[in-house]
Formats: sequence, structure tokens, C-alpha cells
Amino acid sequence: MIYPIVKFGNPVLEKPAEPVTVFDAELKKLVEDMFESMYAARGVGLAAPQIGISKRLAVIDITSKEDPTARVVLANPEIIHTEGRLRQNEGCLSIPEFREPVTRARKVTIRAQDVHGKWFEKTGEELLARAFLHETDHLNGKLYISHISALKRDLIKRKIRKLVKAGEW
Ligand code: NI
Repeated sequence: MIYPIVKFGNPVLEKPAEPVTVFDAELKKLVEDMFESMYAARGVGLAAPQIGISKRLAVIDITSKEDPTARVVLANPEIIHTEGRLRQNEGCLSIPEFREPVTRARKVTIRAQDVHGKWFEKTGEELLARAFLHETDHLNGKLYISHISALKRDLIKRKIRKLVKAGEW
């Protein structure tokens, strides 16, 4: 099932999500649906709040479906190590059409549970590191625009308000 993506302005995006506690068939189905929804929206990462579900759950595939082994499921993720700095353009499916350069760590180690509830650690660099940070932020109710200047953020918010008024958001 493909879920519609919740856009900026919906409060679900700005509140901390609830931990995943049950690792059952229903969660497995939700994860599959999240991958499907992410691919349909042409994203490389998707957090559950972005489909209106306030759970600490995210999926990532930086290869855009090219490599099935590149799929990452993150339940209850925690960032445990960061290293270096990299400034690159970043976007979000919940803030479509906008992109801004964001400085993030170049190398990130994350600890999370997989779809079966098993804890694992994974280290990613560059785009994968960025996805780990971006998706974990989502689960804490934080969007990438909180990492840009207030001036740029206000400009984006103003443009979004116009789009909302025009019924285009
Ligand atoms: Ni996002």
C-alpha cells in the first residue's frame, strides 16, 4: 500500500515519535509499505511520521531500489558516533521542491533495531550518514530546515504559506 506523504505544516512532523515495542507481522507490513511509499515518492529515506504514524521507525535506500541489500530498516535508532563535516544540498519528501545546503557529519554510526527487534550497529558515510541523521531527526520531531539559517528558513516558510493559500500544498 502506498501512503500519501504528510507535508510540512502537519503537527505530526514536529512532535517526537513513540518507540516501537511490538515487532510483529503488522510492523513488517508497515515497513514494506514504507519502502513502497518511499520509492513511489522517489525518496531515499522515509520516517513513519511522514505517513502520519508517530512511531520511531524509518526506512532508507540510498540506491533508489537498485540494490536490494542496501535497504536499511531503523526501529528506535540512536546516533552513537559522528565524525567529520560535509556540506551538501538536502531535501525532504515532506517539504517538496525545496533544497538547501546543510552541514552534517560525514561519517555516522547508528544503533537501531531491525524489523525483528534485533539490535545492530551500522556506519554510513556521506549520503548514508546524512540519511541516518535526517531520519533520526524526523523521529525527534525535527526537520532539516532547523539546520539552516533563520533567514532562509523564514523564506521557505513564507513560500509555503503562499502555496497553502493557493491550495498548492
Ligand atoms: Ni525528510
